[in-house]
Amino acid sequence: MDRDSATQPANQVLIEQLQANLPDRPVVVSVCITCKTADGGAVVGPEMYAAVQAAIGKDDANVAVRPVQCLSVCKRPATVAVTSPDGYTFLFGDLQTESGTAALISFVQSYQKSDFGLVPWRERAEVLRKGMVARVPPIRWSPDDGRAPK
Ligand code: FES
Repeated sequence: MDRDSATQPANQVLIEQLQANLPDRPVVVSVCITCKTADGGAVVGPEMYAAVQAAIGKDDANVAVRPVQCLSVCKRPATVAVTSPDGYTFLFGDLQTESGTAALISFVQSYQKSDFGLVPWRERAEVLRKGMVARVPPIRWSPDDGRAPK
């Protein structure tokens, strides 16, 4: 057995272990379609949903974009949640259709590459930093001290 063949399985095991912390697929982007403007006038959710679905949901089988009715952040329209079966759940508000959609495209890409979907702060667009409402850890990741993975 030469050196390369001896180390290959160990490397493969390491790669699989590292990949084990990546969020399960699909990443689910939930867009509230009942959000209205702050004055209660116009419904802004459907436009946000259409834009996000067109930008993210059509060409990537690992991402599902779905419409939902109310994420209980009604005073901060438009609202969107990003989650996966074994990943963090992020909830955002105050999103404008164009800038919010652009920010979500890069956020979802980072989410897919991050342990437990925990997108580093530096990789979050400004509108998502300001619009952050909640960050909820995945169920299977639960250290005693509650700290986020590094
Ligand atoms: S109506 Fe959109 S969060 Fe409640």
